[in-house]
Amino acid sequence: MTNRNPEALQAFAGKVSNSVTGGLNCALTMIGDQLGLYRSLAEKGPMQSGGLAEATHLSERWVREWLYQQACIGQIEYDETADSFFLSEEGKAVLAQEDHPAYMGGMIQSVVAMFDTVEHLPECFRSGLGQSFDDKGEGCACGIERMSRKFQTDYLVPALLPRLDGITERLTAGASVADVGCGGATSTIAMAKAFPASKFIGYDISLHALERARANIATAGVSNIKLHNPTFDPLPEDSSIDFITTFDVVHDSTHPRQLIDAIKNSLKRDGSWLCADVKGLPTFAENRRDNPMATLAYSFSVLVCMSAGLSTPDGAGLGTLGFHEQKAREMTAAAGLSSFNVIPFDGDVFNAFYDIRH
Ligand SMILES: C[S@@+](CC[C@H](N)C(=O)[O-])C[C@H]1O[C@@H](n2cnc3c(N)ncnc32)[C@H](O)[C@@H]1O
Repeated sequence: MTNRNPEALQAFAGKVSNSVTGGLNCALTMIGDQLGLYRSLAEKGPMQSGGLAEATHLSERWVREWLYQQACIGQIEYDETADSFFLSEEGKAVLAQEDHPAYMGGMIQSVVAMFDTVEHLPECFRSGLGQSFDDKGEGCACGIERMSRKFQTDYLVPALLPRLDGITERLTAGASVADVGCGGATSTIAMAKAFPASKFIGYDISLHALERARANIATAGVSNIKLHNPTFDPLPEDSSIDFITTFDVVHDSTHPRQLIDAIKNSLKRDGSWLCADVKGLPTFAENRRDNPMATLAYSFSVLVCMSAGLSTPDGAGLGTLGFHEQKAREMTAAAGLSSFNVIPFDGDVFNAFYDIRH
């Protein structure tokens, strides 16, 4: 056997063991989110396992073991004297308050949904062909929607759109808007509510996403949104759209070059494309060294984003960090869109925002 340094070996095994714990914890955090355990703790304050089980109508033994795990991993606080459990203020924001910007329940839901598809990954690695968004199931679409909901509902219209020259005025007066890759249409609904004189079309190729979008639009009661599946009903090629948005779409797309061409052809000569995409750096070395989100992003990439981008035989597979600013500048310029401005906005940790025009 190789003569390894036992301390280094132990440290390395500890590092991997922490990752394993993190994987298990995703499943148990999703359970806490789904069953309202965090919400109940946040609302009612310190409780013993019996009280929490009663409040959530669950079995005490299961709740108790879950609380032990949550307290050991540090997501729930434990008061030894009172033998009670409670959420810190930070815990409430991240785990219990769906309308808080730091809430992570949606992200965890989408991660657990991906675990269901891991059995298909060996074949993806062999064939090179990835899985589409719909292959990842409804849970993945729903988790992504919950991940982006807060920003799109509360910040997009009041905080971001005013930073794009002339857009709020144009939407107020009445404009044609395409929200491409709209997912559950949270962004489309937020804009449609704020600008009733404008007409919106949400485009998405995912049937799960379109189904969720349909239900969300009905719940919101807005009448100025239509939904199209671009596989059958593509963007118009007649330069007729005033404003186009893409929120985390281009890096996921199988054909980003064609998507950018389609956006360019449908955009009015004086129109604007608001492109939100994941903050990344041009090289792996830079991301590994300087991007605090790199590990998370590459994990998502193999399981969802790159996989979706490779879900057709000729897919580009840019990956989660693959449509970084430099790449976006190059690809949009190559398509003939000559104006590219980074919108200064630090209200979103994952995304950068670009105002792209003819
Ligand atoms: C990461 S999700 C983002 C969804 C939504 N914009 C949001 O922020 O919650 C990417 C979405 O883009 C869609 N998509 C990918 N390529 C597309 C294309 N060429 N045209 C329309 N939608 C596309 C996917 O189906 C998926 O719903």
